[in-house]
Amino acid sequence: MTIFNANTENIERASQCLKNGGLVAFPTETVYGLGADASNPDAVKRIFIAKNRPENHPLIVHLASFEQFDLWAQDIPESAVVLAEHFFPSPLALILKKRPEVSEIVTGGQKTIALRVPNHPVALELLRAFGGGIAAPSANRFCRISPTQAQHVADELGESVDMILDGGACQIGVESTILDLSGEKPTILRFGQITRSELENVLKTEVFIPEMLATRTIKTAGMMAIHYAPTTPAMCCDSDLFAELLKDEKQKIGVLTCGSNIASTENRTVISLSADSVIYAQNLYAKLRELDALNLDLILVEQPPKNEMWDAINDRLSKATRAVL
Ligand code: TXA
Ligand code: MG
Repeated sequence: MTIFNANTENIERASQCLKNGGLVAFPTETVYGLGADASNPDAVKRIFIAKNRPENHPLIVHLASFEQFDLWAQDIPESAVVLAEHFFPSPLALILKKRPEVSEIVTGGQKTIALRVPNHPVALELLRAFGGGIAAPSANRFCRISPTQAQHVADELGESVDMILDGGACQIGVESTILDLSGEKPTILRFGQITRSELENVLKTEVFIPEMLATRTIKTAGMMAIHYAPTTPAMCCDSDLFAELLKDEKQKIGVLTCGSNIASTENRTVISLSADSVIYAQNLYAKLRELDALNLDLILVEQPPKNEMWDAINDRLSKATRAVL
């Protein structure tokens, strides 16, 4: 496996590789995806093996445009049309009723399918060259931190990927917002850069979050308690506890702050992420990876603000860290 510069020639090569049933990692605006031909069950099975992902965890199918949604989904509601007109291409995946001929290998056995049009020139050029749907989860091993650079993919998946297209660092840095439009009420299954109020403003109706629905049966891998996690124990805590824990000079601690100025010491490696949620998200996974490689006893994360702009980050942090008792 080699990392390829994402020029037109290599994108064409990647498209051929997909047509031959290969696995291609490629950049999107959120994180790098591990792509396979979504209409080829054998190719899709290779994704699950490479990631060590259970087969009942459904994949997102990436398409070049909303016009192709009809080939994969049926009974597409008007709300999807409205969202597509307003947002696409964008970090927004829609859950819709799948067409009967779409293999359940892609949808993890579910009757619904996740579809998205990524807003990244390399991803779009690859999708246009390939012509069909590319099933692509984040290109990391199951439950680990998503890759935001080509080298992260090489580190995570190595030889199990046929080609990695290098399109530089991902702009957004956390995975897409997932909105379920297959039920009675539009429901966010995963927070992302596109916020609940942005969706509500465009749809002109209330958008639900899972806590608001009494019963739910939908399985979303990102909803598991531990996900997106470093191998080093990690904790996220508010300022009092954060200050208290920092006094421990014996443990080797990695520290991620959201703006606070804290000095590094011999046993303490401090990385200051931004107080701006957009910049924070861009760098979060790369910095968690950096700290994870240092063989530390603990990664301590300063609790970011709790408002809508930070929903996606707080969601990922709650899954990357263990609860503070
Ligand atoms: O930003 C992204 O969406 C990235 C890039 C590569 O596009 N992809 C990504 O894929 O995050 P993945 O597989 O790591 O996460 C997809 C999430 C999973 O939590 C999965 O359970 C959920 O989407 N999902 C997919 N199909 C679903 C369905 N039919 N119903 C409910 N959840 C679904
Ligand atoms: Mg993932």
